[in-house]
Amino acid sequence: MFQEVLAAHADRVEACLTGLLDEQDDTQLTRAIRYAVLSGGKRLRAFLVLEGAHLYGVRPQQADRVAAAVECIHAYSLVHDDLPAMDDDDLRRGKPTLHVKWDEATAILAGDALQTLAFEILASPRSAADPTIRLRLISSLAEAAGARGMVEGQMQDIAAETATTPLTLEQITTLQANKTGKLFTWSATAGPVMGGSNTDLMQAYAQAIGLAFQIADDILDVEGDASKAGKRLQKDSQAGKATFVSLLGVDGARRKAAELVEQACDCLEPFGGTGDNLRHLARFIIDRDM
Ligand code: IPE
Ligand code: IPE
Ligand code: MG
Ligand code: MG
Ligand code: MG
Repeated sequence: MFQEVLAAHADRVEACLTGLLDEQDDTQLTRAIRYAVLSGGKRLRAFLVLEGAHLYGVRPQQADRVAAAVECIHAYSLVHDDLPAMDDDDLRRGKPTLHVKWDEATAILAGDALQTLAFEILASPRSAADPTIRLRLISSLAEAAGARGMVEGQMQDIAAETATTPLTLEQITTLQANKTGKLFTWSATAGPVMGGSNTDLMQAYAQAIGLAFQIADDILDVEGDASKAGKRLQKDSQAGKATFVSLLGVDGARRKAAELVEQACDCLEPFGGTGDNLRHLARFIIDRDM
């Protein structure tokens, strides 16, 4: 049942992205961009935008565009994450990574273009009629994705591979909050931002599931099935990376993730039944095999 809701939300954002990309010419660059952003994925960040928007009474058409914007940032981050200078991966979402299908230059440039496309989408009045809200979405996304957010998290993650002493739990938590958590938080708070409401509840919810999500990603890396995950696994231990699993063990990491999910669900109490899709999402995040 939840899988159906997830698939329906993914279809919505995919249709919106397809519409946005249809406006572009057919070149190697635009083919690569479409390959990166229309090639599946769970669309969890989009899901958070759509559900958050629903909770705060935002029009679905507006939410679709905002969801598309964050999926562009996420797709760019994956294209760059897979590059030889970073994780050097050849499989993503069950298909060859972009630099394998084309070449590194195309992958770098398609990533760059996806990043600017995200901001172009948000800058349109169709994403938010009120210019103050639009500006808030744009500046908060820049912050979440940039040198105080995802990019910093990626840098900390790469640095951790060569650190002489393994990272502490506190350092890993900070790293993951940057690498994954901030984009999750942006996505979940976009609804209340668009609705002109307070973001505290959604922020607390997203911080908890963001961390749980990354713990689950680390567990999948150890015991997942690559054919289901659609990406190469056992990469973290090979790279000698300290992760939640290397510090807490698989059982400890699983317990920690389950605690975080309970914490996330507690944040949804005020929404009653309307928060059910977000409760299911929180559980899905730690139970998934993909
Ligand atoms: C993978 O993210 C990258 C991480 C932040 C760990 P997802 O697992 O959300 O990737 P897709 O979008 O479903 O492919
Ligand atoms: C990637 O983290 C996170 C971002 C792209 C911001 P990982 O390197 O753990 O993601 P996977 O495991 O390759 O999907
Ligand atoms: Mg990485
Ligand atoms: Mg990676
Ligand atoms: Mg990973």
